[in-house]
Amino acid sequence: MDHAHPLTSAVRHDRSDEEAGPLRAKQLSRKKNIKCFAYIAVFAVFQTIIILVFALTVLKIKAPSVKLSSVSVESISLPNGASSPFRMTVTAQVAVKNKNFGHFKFDNSTATLTYRSVTVGEAVIPEARAKARKTRRMNVTMEVSSESLSIDGSTYLNSDIRTGNLTLNSYARLSGKVHLMKIMKKRKTAEMNCTITVNLEKQTVQELNCQ
Ligand SMILES: *[C@@H]1O[C@H](CO)[C@@H](O)[C@H](O)[C@H]1NC(C)=O
Ligand SMILES: *[C@@H]1O[C@H](CO)[C@@H](O)[C@H](O)[C@H]1NC(C)=O
Ligand SMILES: *[C@@H]1O[C@H](CO)[C@@H](O)[C@H](O)[C@H]1NC(C)=O
Ligand SMILES: *[C@@H]1O[C@H](CO)[C@@H](O)[C@H](O)[C@H]1NC(C)=O
Repeated sequence: MDHAHPLTSAVRHDRSDEEAGPLRAKQLSRKKNIKCFAYIAVFAVFQTIIILVFALTVLKIKAPSVKLSSVSVESISLPNGASSPFRMTVTAQVAVKNKNFGHFKFDNSTATLTYRSVTVGEAVIPEARAKARKTRRMNVTMEVSSESLSIDGSTYLNSDIRTGNLTLNSYARLSGKVHLMKIMKKRKTAEMNCTITVNLEKQTVQELNCQ
């Protein structure tokens, strides 16, 4: 107990200043060391938190998303007998949203337009890159034609045309790579599935829903 602590023993024995000096200095440096370790510990905890936050946000690669942000009807020609099918031209704005801290470079892909699960139109989505935390918008033109429809399909189409509303589905699958800080690359795909309801009389898009 007696030699437990240099300072307490110094105080207890009431040593002269000459003797207490080095002890006091030792004590002070010990206190400084403890303080120093405390700083290092705090710093280490702090840095761990920063690394964790960094790993969970910046380094976490999220799947980009793709949707049609707007669709407009350019022209419609209604069917007239067997020789002239239903034709429609629409322009759509494709929006590729990239939430990552690195760019998303995607390959060429095709957006298909279907009517009752039958492809009636296609549009090429050209390869491009969506910058980090940005949405890349592209205009694509789609030509719709009822030529590929079966007799049943045409019958459905004609009755839909009579109601004045036509609902189509647009699907695309974008495949590409998210690049992070020039060292990390990860393949990601984005899927688009939208339903477009066209008002044939007004030649406008009545409703556009993307999942
Ligand atoms: C993508 O399409 C463009 C133009 O159609 C073409 O030049 C390019 O080679 C295509 N890229 C790939 C990877 O197929
Ligand atoms: C797409 O078309 C809209 C309207 O037609 C236009 O305002 C926009 O600038 C076009 N965007 C691109 C990327 O060409
Ligand atoms: C087309 O659909 C919309 C909403 O579904 C409806 O309000 C409208 O009356 C329909 N138009 C016709 C001509 O049926
Ligand atoms: C798109 O969504 C519809 C439902 O809204 C679903 O019936 C259809 O199977 C989906 N298409 C694809 C290709 O996932």
